[in-house]
Amino acid sequence: MALKPKILIADDEPVTLEVVLERLQAEGYDIEVASCGKEAIAAAKNSSFKLVLTDLFMPDITGMEVLAHFVEHYPDTPVIVLTGFGTIETAVEAIKRGAYDYLSKPANLDEIVLTVKRALEHKDLKEQNVALRSQIQEQHRLEKLIGQSTPMQQLYGIIKRVARTDSTVLITGESGTGKELIANAIHFQSNRADMPFVPINCGAIPEELLESELFGHEKGAFTGAFKERRGRFELANKGTVFLDEIGEMSPKLQVKLLRFLQETKFQRVGGSRTVEVDVRILAATNKDLERAVAGNEFREDLFYRLNVIPIQVPPLRERAGDVSLLIRHFLNQHCLKKNIPHKRMSNAAVESLKQYDWPGNVRELENVIERLVILTDSEEIQLHDLPKRMQTCEPVCAEPETAPIELGEDGINLKELLDNLENRLIVDALQRTGGVKNKAAKLLGLNRTTLIEKMKKKQIDFPL
Ligand SMILES: Nc1ncnc2c1ncn2[C@@H]1O[C@H](COP(=O)(O)OP(=O)(O)OP(=O)(O)O)[C@@H](O)[C@H]1O
Ligand SMILES: [Mg+2]
Repeated sequence: MALKPKILIADDEPVTLEVVLERLQAEGYDIEVASCGKEAIAAAKNSSFKLVLTDLFMPDITGMEVLAHFVEHYPDTPVIVLTGFGTIETAVEAIKRGAYDYLSKPANLDEIVLTVKRALEHKDLKEQNVALRSQIQEQHRLEKLIGQSTPMQQLYGIIKRVARTDSTVLITGESGTGKELIANAIHFQSNRADMPFVPINCGAIPEELLESELFGHEKGAFTGAFKERRGRFELANKGTVFLDEIGEMSPKLQVKLLRFLQETKFQRVGGSRTVEVDVRILAATNKDLERAVAGNEFREDLFYRLNVIPIQVPPLRERAGDVSLLIRHFLNQHCLKKNIPHKRMSNAAVESLKQYDWPGNVRELENVIERLVILTDSEEIQLHDLPKRMQTCEPVCAEPETAPIELGEDGINLKELLDNLENRLIVDALQRTGGVKNKAAKLLGLNRTTLIEKMKKKQIDFPL
């Protein structure tokens, strides 16, 4: 049985105490009484109360002091004050000082019960809210990069290594491959993690504004600059600036950025004072910057300054093995976010998505899953629920094809190849046996514990 909510009642009038006590006990609360303010404060030391009901006028210390004590030491415990007739100002004052509500005496018992219930519900909601918020923040902070394919494994290794340094990183890759998420991961794994991560999309802001966004401006620097303003580089001091879509930056700003990267100093727009900051620069683009350099659209010297550590994010079609993990991740995430009961996806639909070529990469996959979560009624999403263009194969051809293995001119990466093959066969066996590990292990000629160990190591879960 659930514990009864514990309530403290403080009043110096035995009659009031008794009737309120009886009624609240009858309502299923666990009641402790205090016949003066001091007793109330002492009681709080020994037990933790869900709620306090206190008279305002007591001989030793007043209810107002009891209230102050609880507000200071137990801010999550709602306090309801009981006040004599004609002292409404005091009641209002109590509310101002943090009481949840007030009730006038003589006490109307129904009203007391109702107010107590409401206060407790309010407290529960508040607690849930706090828990949810911290859960969301935590999720956001650890916003995980999903994927166990060899390219992703390599990427994690690089992220870990570069996170420890202050080097400038240039992240390139097609749209929607997760460049921003990677920049995030680098920042949050670095020793700047507790300092700001300041992203700015260089492609989305007009040139004149971008300059003042980045470097800030002095008062009167241009029409409309009524006040001085600090730019993103200053705001990010000791942290990381993420220059997204750097390929879109105008030549003029490229010069200014280059100078800043060389000197780590700059002047605000319209200013002559030198500002020095300590920021780490991460940049990203889906443009082929080398080609832009060759075509004189991007400064070569800036390119080299940024490209100290290049990170290339592979498109999703080159890591089809990650598709099922991403599907599961987004199904979970979006069902949770929308408060929808959990949904699965049929093997045929998963296979079909694995073969699609994903021009919009992970973002396209995320969007399609989000839509499917909303639009599909049944618990399992079927092949025919997918957008037509993604229905790349019929259920009968759901068997993944085997890529021809050849020892080409340049040789092969045997470990990677075998690793991928192993992943695929394990997932196949699990799919074919509906996730029954005993049977899947048998199909693979492994014993169950070996299979489970491998699944753990490769982070393969079932259902996918
Ligand atoms: N490996 C991944 N695991 C989980 N989610 C991912 C992954 N890669 C991308 N995403 C998600 O896909 C969406 C697009 O990612 P992101 O914005 O980082 O891509 P991008 O490369 O910056 O794209 P663009 O070039 O269009 O700006 C985001 O919602 C992100 O959370
Ligand atoms: Mg981006």
